[in-house]
Amino acid sequence: MMSTSSNKKVAVVTGSSSGIGFETSLALARNGFYTYATLRKLEDGGSKQITDIARNENLPLQAIQLDVNNDRSVSDTINRVVNEKGRIDVVVNNAGYALIGAFEENSMEEIKTQFETNLFGAIRVMQVVIPILRNQRNGKIVNITSLGGRMSFPLDSIYHATKFALEGLSESIQYEVEPFGIKIILIEPGAVGSNFWRNLKMSASANNDNSPYRQFTNNVLEAFNQAAQNTIHPSEVAKVILQAVTADNPDFRYGVGKDSVTIWKQEEICLI
Ligand SMILES: NC(=O)c1ccc[n+]([C@@H]2O[C@H](COP(=O)([O-])OP(=O)(O)OC[C@H]3O[C@@H](n4cnc5c(N)ncnc54)[C@H](OP(=O)(O)O)[C@@H]3O)[C@@H](O)[C@H]2O)c1
Repeated sequence: MMSTSSNKKVAVVTGSSSGIGFETSLALARNGFYTYATLRKLEDGGSKQITDIARNENLPLQAIQLDVNNDRSVSDTINRVVNEKGRIDVVVNNAGYALIGAFEENSMEEIKTQFETNLFGAIRVMQVVIPILRNQRNGKIVNITSLGGRMSFPLDSIYHATKFALEGLSESIQYEVEPFGIKIILIEPGAVGSNFWRNLKMSASANNDNSPYRQFTNNVLEAFNQAAQNTIHPSEVAKVILQAVTADNPDFRYGVGKDSVTIWKQEEICLI
């Protein structure tokens, strides 16, 4: 293992081309982490944008390729980081998107692809990094779930299934890895003003005029459009992630945004 002399902490963030990943990579680099901002497509604008900012601000940040859907891409990239820096202190599993469509009309292929990125992507990264962090006996893994990992909206069933699953998985493995000095942290944003809304993937059947869900879909999309107007900036989420990964004893869960925190408080009231 080749390590550099720098004693900066090392962070890896997936899905850094835009939104929460973009802002989190910059926030970590601005706050002393040597940051690997990973993107599935280096050639697109995201890589140029983040590397231009890093260059202008003289930040310790490299943009490198990582497609969370691909075993080889994940292991090659994580191995490269360890070869270059000798360690990894923080991993942020952020890459994701939402499939939109009535449950019965989503094809199995659309469903599997949604799980491939949002759930198996995070699993793939964790299976490669946990042995590294365990050997170091130190490290933090941040999983970006969602308010939608705790409550559900219509036409988003498969997205919610991936986020609820990531919540349950994280709850379970935190007990396994904590004795090795590894902290698992969940970040649950409400509506965030990122490319997420532009990147919503409509199921192929959702636009079919003969669908029995046609009118319902129109109504729900209108509600999503309104939600997309009432968002927080992705840098607000990055701030909370930074706070969590720099805390000596971070919480397990962080709600971000008024909508997410309000739901949390209501749940607490229900528990009393
Ligand atoms: N925005 C919200 O309201 C909201 C709320 C709660 C939770 N979240 C969660 O926050 C996370 C980030 O979303 P965002 O709001 O920042 O949306 P975004 O701006 O659309 O960013 C999503 C990022 O994920 C990347 N990505 C998608 N598939 C990937 C793959 N196979 N491998 C690597 N990267 C991949 C995208 O890369 P490309 O540019 O290549 O597509 C992009 O960089 C997601 O997990 C999302 O579910 C978002």
